[in-house]
Amino acid sequence: MPILYSPENQVFHLQNDRISYIIRLVAGKYPIHQYWGKKVRAIHADVMERCCNQQEEGFTLHELPLDTLPQECPVFGCGDMRQGMLEVRQADGSSALDLCYDSHEILKGKPALKGLPSARGEEAETLVLRLRDEHSGVAVELSYSVYPDIDVIARNMRVVNDGEQAVVLERALSACVDLENTHTQLTTLSGAWARERQMVTRPLVPGHQGVESVRGASSHQACPFMALGKSTVTEDEGEVYALSLCYSGSFWADVFVDCNDMARAQIGIQPFQFSWELKPGDSFQTPEAYLCYSANGLNGMSREFHHLCGRYITRGKYAHASRPLLVNNWEATYFDFNEDKLLELAACAKDVGIDLFVLDDGWFGHRDVDNSSLGDWVDDRRKLPNGLRGLSDKIHGLGLKFGLWFEPEMISPDSDLYRAHPDWCIHIPGRMQVESRHQLVLDLSRKEVREYIIDAVSAAMERGNVDYVKWDMNRNMNMLHSDGLDSAHQKELNHRYILGLYEILEAVTSRFPDVLFESCAGGGGRFDFGMMHYMPQAWCSDDTDAFMRCRIQYGTSMVFPVSTMGAHVSAVPNHQMGRSTPLATRAAVAMGGTYGYELDLTRLPKEELDEIRRLNEKVKALQPLLLYGEFYRLCSPFEGNKTAFMSVSEDRCEAVVTHVYGPAEPNRQPVLLPLRGLDAEKEYRDVESGRVYGGDELMTHGLTIPRAWGDYMATQFHLVAVD
Ligand code: DGJ
Repeated sequence: MPILYSPENQVFHLQNDRISYIIRLVAGKYPIHQYWGKKVRAIHADVMERCCNQQEEGFTLHELPLDTLPQECPVFGCGDMRQGMLEVRQADGSSALDLCYDSHEILKGKPALKGLPSARGEEAETLVLRLRDEHSGVAVELSYSVYPDIDVIARNMRVVNDGEQAVVLERALSACVDLENTHTQLTTLSGAWARERQMVTRPLVPGHQGVESVRGASSHQACPFMALGKSTVTEDEGEVYALSLCYSGSFWADVFVDCNDMARAQIGIQPFQFSWELKPGDSFQTPEAYLCYSANGLNGMSREFHHLCGRYITRGKYAHASRPLLVNNWEATYFDFNEDKLLELAACAKDVGIDLFVLDDGWFGHRDVDNSSLGDWVDDRRKLPNGLRGLSDKIHGLGLKFGLWFEPEMISPDSDLYRAHPDWCIHIPGRMQVESRHQLVLDLSRKEVREYIIDAVSAAMERGNVDYVKWDMNRNMNMLHSDGLDSAHQKELNHRYILGLYEILEAVTSRFPDVLFESCAGGGGRFDFGMMHYMPQAWCSDDTDAFMRCRIQYGTSMVFPVSTMGAHVSAVPNHQMGRSTPLATRAAVAMGGTYGYELDLTRLPKEELDEIRRLNEKVKALQPLLLYGEFYRLCSPFEGNKTAFMSVSEDRCEAVVTHVYGPAEPNRQPVLLPLRGLDAEKEYRDVESGRVYGGDELMTHGLTIPRAWGDYMATQFHLVAVD
């Protein structure tokens, strides 16, 4: 039984074969967080004993030391002096709550969340704990789902107004865990456009630390993820406690270390600029948070998140299938193309073994630069005299699939859509509009806007008979105001936008179940489990430089599997950095994601095209292993001049190891790289050299990586078990 309830001790024990998560009701009222970590049979110790001693101030409502107790659903106001999960402004203006146990239920499976993406969980079991504040009638349902096969607990909170007067939620987070004083460091993923998800590790100190977004998107700057552990945690050793969120909008991920060294880790919708009115009888559903425990360091944590994503979050035809090798015309032509140029590129792509041709920005309206036409999803006949269908028929005729770029959430002031509906964008009437990339954001909280997007995108997809869609989003939100909401509800806009987005994504992706969708936000500006639920891959970054990509993909792999990371070989010198790296290196790094090209193949010399043809054959042969194998980070680009990672097949009979040097250094010895995840008892043959090594040898002594001759050299090994 994954969830055991002991009425005698009032203890809920959530467990699988490896982890335990224990909640205890104290005084029959408060759900106290008693334990999370390696599987235990039970915890007998009395949590009160430990915390009572520390109680000094003595002004709690029920004479319980709420300020020092680790809690499951802390609220401010009745004794706890830390920031809590929930803040509800009541009719009298006060916001104290005294949330006490009301009832509970243990369910087989895991209910889906209404209007929000969530992980499937037919195999899971779910505890629903109901708490209630008698005074206001505010009730909450805390849900915890535990899976037999992954060490992740999915949590969410639903708030219900059972009272007789309206209340306003000013904060409603998804999860809170009060961790005892065993955590000394915090790892997050921070960055910017073109350098997303860089690993940052810092010591935990008293006070608040964490990451957040207020941009209306999960953002380039911060990923909804944080991992706590001791300073001795490595990629392979040590206990890690990580939180992530299935949400694509503004979020808050915070750790508060109190005076007793207890670390309160919380994650959820960003409370800044948020409020939500609940009339009597209304409820509010928070997004889902994932709590991951690993006893095997950061690599162990990542594999749990990868399995969560692959088995339970991504959906549809492509969730576990091989992905078409694509060429995208963006860096090949930008806006300067016509049908002939595209067909020339497509023919060349076909010749080297590419499967899918993607037409990026600039095919609609009169968009010759980035200052017009978003919203007008009509074919630009100047560039495509035969329309999308004419082009698509010819691409299909070449034996390629056809893909198309959209940026459906945006509107250009220079567009017919804007001229017809100037109020459809997010704006404050009477104030100047703040454009970014010459565009404004459509107000997805409005039904008519959502319907327009669904219809316009669907019509263009049908017209173009498309096999693939790149769903882009190139700016963040400000000047927040919706003409569809009254003044008391404007702070609902951010979340209503995301709910509107999810409704659109659900409609479009289910209308086109055979289409492969890739999400994008100026590169990796919305790389989160929420988007992964609808679209199995996402463009990882606009930075296609192989050396920068090592860092970006290394950081991204902390949470997301290889099969989600769009990664392409682009031209040199690189368009974002001006750096030149060898083709073999660009390809080896792109094989750490969903593989493709983003360059003008027609300009490459024959030798490079021949090499690309060989590379494509290799990728196709290795794709199941590269995309869906067990992934291990071996060497961190954040710690030195080298990056290494590997994928191992489920039966541990095959592996691909990639090693990339940074700028070459003189007078360096060849490197020994210990591998992971192999079978120690097996012998492995390196396909290229024919040399045979023991699995034990490879995981202890390591594989010898040749010295770098030249900058940014990559080496790849394909190891196959010998019978
Ligand atoms: C941003 C994306 O990340 C790029 O790949 C490209 O699609 C441009 N937008 C087009 O405007």
